[in-house]
Formats: sequence, structure tokens, C-alpha cells
Amino acid sequence: MSVAELFEQRKTESQWNTSYPLSSQDWKQYTIYKQLSFEGIQEMSFYIHIPFCKQLCAFCEYTRMICPDDLLQEKYIETLRRDIEKFKISYPNITLRGFDIGGGTPTALSEDCFDSLLNVYDWTISNLALAIDFEPSIEATFSTLSQSKIKRMVCSGIKRLSLGVQSTNSEVLCSQHRERISHDDMAYWIKVAKSEGIEKINLDLMYGLSGMTGQTIENDLALIKSLSPEQVTLYELRTNMIGSKAIPPKHVLWLQYNHFYDALINMGYHAVYGQNTFSKSLSDEGASSYLRSRMLYGTPYKGFGISAQSMSLLGISYNTGKSSSHIKDLISSDSYEVGDTYLLPPKEMAGKYIAIAAYNGSFSVEKAGAFLKSNFLNEYSPAINFCLENDYIILQDDKLSITKKGFEYYGAVFSLFYNQH
Ligand SMILES: C[S@@+](CC[C@H](N)C(=O)[O-])C[C@H]1O[C@@H](n2cnc3c(N)ncnc32)[C@H](O)[C@@H]1O
Ligand code: SF4
Repeated sequence: MSVAELFEQRKTESQWNTSYPLSSQDWKQYTIYKQLSFEGIQEMSFYIHIPFCKQLCAFCEYTRMICPDDLLQEKYIETLRRDIEKFKISYPNITLRGFDIGGGTPTALSEDCFDSLLNVYDWTISNLALAIDFEPSIEATFSTLSQSKIKRMVCSGIKRLSLGVQSTNSEVLCSQHRERISHDDMAYWIKVAKSEGIEKINLDLMYGLSGMTGQTIENDLALIKSLSPEQVTLYELRTNMIGSKAIPPKHVLWLQYNHFYDALINMGYHAVYGQNTFSKSLSDEGASSYLRSRMLYGTPYKGFGISAQSMSLLGISYNTGKSSSHIKDLISSDSYEVGDTYLLPPKEMAGKYIAIAAYNGSFSVEKAGAFLKSNFLNEYSPAINFCLENDYIILQDDKLSITKKGFEYYGAVFSLFYNQH
């Protein structure tokens, strides 16, 4: 199929976004039956996945379950600690660029288990080198915060806190089985976090959810203006993992993004068009150093915990539980490191890097070429020429970026570089 035909076929289909691969079957041929090697890698990031939540939102595409009792929480953290220990013994000389603790909802853990988790974090970084821009971050929901949990994160040097809002509209949230938090409660917790020493608050918002309109977006924007977080992350609803097709047409998604983008820029946030992170500061791209280094530089990362994803220079792996609906049964395993490992050819590695970088609305041609082990512009000239001729992308220095016209079909545009058939 020609590039133009591929593009036409994909441009209105919701599955084409930044998800790659579309199915684990696509990589089955690259499966290896051993753990992903990080040999020769000096700089990387860590991620810990806590798959526990107080509520299960219908839209959520992450591996999560209702928070179990303290015994199982402790068991989970103990297994995490052992997995990290094994990794550190194998790779003692790495430098950490970033460290995100996410989920799920890490703050859904009980006070004691949250403390144990942060002890594991302290011990993990204790004898590792940290990059100069190392900026660890933790994910939370407002209703699972407590002053002592906030104090505990600050005590570990975690000064970026990412909180989910998604929408301010009760009907939108209710239909997703998600609790609505009042403006005053959010303002209260942000004040507590700031007074305890949290330096950057990020708020996650979504668009594309059923019931969202221009007016609900205006209300979300008013909330951002009033709470004035340092960073905002804007997620377009993806339904690949949850198997639903209830997603608005591309043109509506595009209008909703533009609505948010124009208003956030007017409020003084910085973001290149097409990017999903917004920041008041020009220096952090609106993301933690884990995400920044992953998105912008293709830095390798190692994920710990059920379903966590890792990427080295040679492949990708997913810990146990990635596609399991019975994760409770997995908590008592001796290790979560037994999962799927794919040793990928250069083209697939370049593709995965581009799919991750697409959240940023752009990617580095040089970095893509390094993964590809050849000249990216030469290899992809038909796709590049098609996109340039149609004003879907611009090429400036090392950067290939999406245009406003191209962003309406960003999944179809970017996927020309990571899924060629
Ligand atoms: C890993 S989740 C954890 C956030 C936290 N538990 C919460 O609910 O606020 C991080 C973010 O992913 C986004 N997200 C979850 N499911 C999504 C989906 N299907 N499509 C797009 N974004 C999604 C939400 O904005 C969420 O805040
Ligand atoms: S959005 Fe957050 S709280 Fe809701 S199910 Fe997903 S991880 Fe849990």
C-alpha cells in the first residue's frame, strides 16, 4: 500500500494514536526467553508501578485493581524490593536520569505501606549516581493524600507531585465511575503540599471523554487558572487497551485539544503545538525527568512491579500481568520480572522511540536514526515527502514536528514512521 493510501485508511480510525505496537502479537516473532539486558548502558531511568487504586475509573488503560489489604500491600512492596535488588546487583554502575513512582495510585497505599515504599525508594537511589537534572516524581489522587504521606515524599527528596483531575464535570466523571473532588478540596491539598515543600504540582486533565463540551472545557480551564499548577498534562482518551470504541471523531478531539492549547498558552504556560505537557517554566517541558528523558532523548528505562514496561537499546519488556485481568493472584509471586521480552530489530526500536516521542508532538531525527542504525531521512523519504507536501509536518534542524493541520490526524501521521503496513 502507498503512503497516501495508508494515511487515508488510518486517518479516521481511533486506534491510531501513540499506542505501539497495536497488539502484542505484532512482536511475537521477536520474543526471547530471557530478561532484557541493560549491558553497556550508563544512563537510564527507573519506574515503580503501584497497581492499586481507591476507585476503578472506566476510562483507565493502566494495570490496576482496588487496593488490597495491608498484608498484600506489604507483600507487593517486598517483592518490588527484591526485584530492584537483583537489578542493582547486575547493574551497579548506572546513573539515574529520572525516577517515577506511578500506577495506579501510589498514595492509595496505607500510611505504613507508603512509608515502606518510600524506604525502598531511598534504598534504591542510595548508592547510585544521579544525573544533574534528576527530578523524581510521584502520582496521586487528591482523595488518597494525607499530610504525613506528603511529608514522607518530601523527606525522600520527591518534590514533584502529579495529581489527576481529568474533568471538573460531575456527569463526565460519574459516567466514568470516578469521584469528583471540589475546587476547595483541591486548593486545600495543593496548599498543604506546597507548605510541606513540594515544588511542582502537575495536574492531569483529559479530553475526548463522553459528555465533554466547550463549556465543560471552559470550566476545566477556570480550575487550572485558579489552582495555577506549575505543570498541566493533557491526555487524549485512548481506548486501545480497554477495547471500547466510545471516542469522538478526530475532528472533535482536535478542536478540544486546540481549545485547551490556546487557553493554556494565553494563561502563560509553555508548550510546542501538539505537545501534551504544559509548563510555566521553560526549562522542564512540563514533565518529570523520567518522562523528559524518555520522550525527548529515548533514554532507556527499567520498570519494576506488575506490568511495568522497560526499554533498553535492544528491546522492550513487560513485567508479568500486562494483559491479565486477575492481578490479585499475581501479587504473591516471588518476582514480577517474568513477563514478555522482545529483542527488536532497529526499525522497531526506532518506531517505539517515535511512538513515545509523539506525546511531545515531535521527535529527534538524529535519535531515530541512531535506533535505526541508518539515515532516517533517507530511509523514510516517501513518508516524509508525503507529510511535507501535505503540510502535516515540518522539519527544522534535528526536529520533525507535527503541524496544526497534521495534528488532526497525528496518529496517522506518526504511525507512518512506526507501522509501515
Ligand atoms: C497512570 S494514571 C494515574 C493517575 C492517578 N491514579 C489518577 O487517577 O489521578 C495517569 C493519567 O493517565 C491518564 N489516563 C488514564 N487512562 C487513560 C486513557 N484511557 N486515555 C488517556 N489517558 C488516560 C489520566 O489522565 C491519568 O491521570
Ligand atoms: S485513572 Fe487513576 S484512579 Fe482511576 S483507575 Fe486509573 S490509575 Fe486508578
